Amino acid sequence: MKVHVPGDKSITQRVLILSSLASGESRVRGLLYGGDAEATARALRMLGVPLPSIPRDGSEVSITGVGLDGLKSPSQDLDLGNSGTGARLLLGVLAGSEVVATMVGDTSLQARPMHRVCDPLEAMGAQLEYLDVEGHIPIRVDHSHPLRSIEWRSPVASAQVKSSILLAGLVGGARTIVTEPRRSRDHTERLLAQRGVAISTRDVPEGHQVELGDPSNVLSPLDFSVPGDVSSAAFILALAALGGAGTSITTVNVGLNPTRTAFLDVFARMGVSLTIEEPDRGYTCEPQGSVTANPSEVHGTDVIAEEVPSVIDELPIIAAMGACSKGITTIRGAGELRVKESDRIHSLVHNLRMLGVEVTEYEDGLEIEGTSRPLTGRIQAFGDHRIAMAFGVLAKVRKNHIEIDDPTLSDVSFPGFWPLLDALVQRSHT
Ligand code: S3P
Repeated sequence: MKVHVPGDKSITQRVLILSSLASGESRVRGLLYGGDAEATARALRMLGVPLPSIPRDGSEVSITGVGLDGLKSPSQDLDLGNSGTGARLLLGVLAGSEVVATMVGDTSLQARPMHRVCDPLEAMGAQLEYLDVEGHIPIRVDHSHPLRSIEWRSPVASAQVKSSILLAGLVGGARTIVTEPRRSRDHTERLLAQRGVAISTRDVPEGHQVELGDPSNVLSPLDFSVPGDVSSAAFILALAALGGAGTSITTVNVGLNPTRTAFLDVFARMGVSLTIEEPDRGYTCEPQGSVTANPSEVHGTDVIAEEVPSVIDELPIIAAMGACSKGITTIRGAGELRVKESDRIHSLVHNLRMLGVEVTEYEDGLEIEGTSRPLTGRIQAFGDHRIAMAFGVLAKVRKNHIEIDDPTLSDVSFPGFWPLLDALVQRSHT
């Protein structure tokens, strides 16, 4: 069975931002039509970008960029909703621009740490003010252009932090070097390099480093097709692996960027039989292809700190799979899970225990004892799309009876998730 998943959330938001900042008309296809992308698009429109509506079917749109110095101060607050990527990347853009703006967001976004991006931006000379709670949005950004060069060592491996600093450098005309302890997803670097921006990356003893050389004052427009979101595909592949569809499923045209696909190694270690096909098309800076998962006998594994940055968004579904695997699944070195859309360690531990699964909670992870018993209960998704979807998959396998308190949360990254899941499961019964 072949399945198309919606466009990649991380890449969509970067494409929206870079097309808006380009000089001239970009042509882009496959954008995610989902809550987070909408929030970023809405903010860009309020900053004066004539951004068209995002089509629901991924069809092509043209975006007329306003140029690196073309953003205008908005007349209202910029509401980034639930989008951590949108908020952190746009803080970098705003810090480098000559605009005055206030950024707000939903309760989940207000709880997420912003010092990690604001500290380096302030070190570059950005004028930022926390309007309510120190280190959190709402944040007001004042005129700060041009910014100073920076060499920043981030204590966390975070693509949002890295991208925020790079975008501040790009817009604010400042050279930037960012070092992170481990390599995080590199979509910003790839898209910038494809547009001819002087960007280089290297492994260093402290981790991984990216350098934005002398930024030019023009960014050329994009002609780009966003691949399907491999993090969304992970839920569908897990459903197939656990036998929920009664057959194998192939997710087609998904992104296969190596900074995002470590979950496929984890799935393979859990005994999932996978086939990955990456046709050599060579026309995009983001590799893409198809991944097939077959119904498999799954067993536990250990996810270790080194692989966490490349598997961060798939840890909820890995933990959920662990609950119905043979043996123990351990996730450690994943303290970052505590500052996602919810405290995902708590969200997972609470819900797995509620279903009767034996779980040990650690500050930086969790250990799950798989069971063959049917799982029954009502899940509290804590406002988190990936928690809702991870347990949504569990709800469709074996003889489980699981309800999710707020299924609509999936719209943030995967519109159409529930009808797709139902269709895949129903097919297995016909
Ligand atoms: C993202 C980076 C990751 C990831 C998030 C999207 C991005 O967050 O969890 O869903 O688009 O840059 P961190 O950079 O905070 O690890």
